[in-house]
Amino acid sequence: MSVEIRQVHPIFVGEVSGIDVRKPLSPQEVAAIEAGMDRYAVLIFHDQDITDEQQLTFTKNFGPLQDGANTTVRSKELRLDPAFADVSNLDKDNRMLPRDDRRRISSLGNRLWHSDASFRPVPARYSLLSGRVVPPTGGNTEFADMRAAYDALDKATKAEIEDLVCGHSLIYSRAQLGFTEYTTEELATMEPAMQRLVRRHPVTGRKSLFLSAHIGTIAGWPQPEALAFIRDLTEHATQPAFVYSHKWRAGDLVIWDNRQTMHRVRRFDDLSHVRDLRRTTTMSEGPTVTAQAA
Ligand code: OGA
Ligand code: MN
Repeated sequence: MSVEIRQVHPIFVGEVSGIDVRKPLSPQEVAAIEAGMDRYAVLIFHDQDITDEQQLTFTKNFGPLQDGANTTVRSKELRLDPAFADVSNLDKDNRMLPRDDRRRISSLGNRLWHSDASFRPVPARYSLLSGRVVPPTGGNTEFADMRAAYDALDKATKAEIEDLVCGHSLIYSRAQLGFTEYTTEELATMEPAMQRLVRRHPVTGRKSLFLSAHIGTIAGWPQPEALAFIRDLTEHATQPAFVYSHKWRAGDLVIWDNRQTMHRVRRFDDLSHVRDLRRTTTMSEGPTVTAQAA
């Protein structure tokens, strides 16, 4: 069966058929998925009932793994292999996390628009999120197209932002929600990473806005002015015309290109319903800035 992709949003997002994620892919299939990612930036695969091992094997088709990409605040005992980001509301015994659980509180950062691992010097390429158990209502994942967001800026703004560099850290995104308690050990891993605000896709050459809730500074700018501007750009970039909302079905696998999109999760009743999503992540080609300005 050949790979087919049906666009499901006016500007991006494709639904893929003709791929069984459990089976080894041919080079042609990998190429078709990558071409689809370059074009649609988000791809949805339905009815993929996969194991963790199958997810890892599939992920490795798309570059080196970014391990623990989102698990700086670690619970001592991980439920999943450390190659996974555990995007669930479950502890290692598969019990729902209580309201005041530190991992639960930290994961609320996913409710803010972001790009995965933008706080790492080499940020993420693809994120692959597998829906194992999904809640009956709420918990949609929303995606915004940062290429469309860039294209829609006026000429003066494009010129102004062309060479801006932003500081990204988990500290900044968590602080927006009032989360400020870290161990010294954790803080050592949270040094800001510097990233260009405008980046160019290595294959298509399209420019996009590299925005993320992890941004806390713009190099050379007073911080309040930087934060106000980033807030304006984020509002522009996440206007409804640029956003797709994914309602999860069990067995969905969603892949997004962190170089071209932002995403966030919407609220759901996580104290009464299980939501077990598991993410693997691959690394992008390199830093977006060549010299890491401090
Ligand atoms: C992620 C993430 C959103 C969600 O896995 O990177 O932000 O819907 N998850 O849980
Ligand atoms: Mn994320």
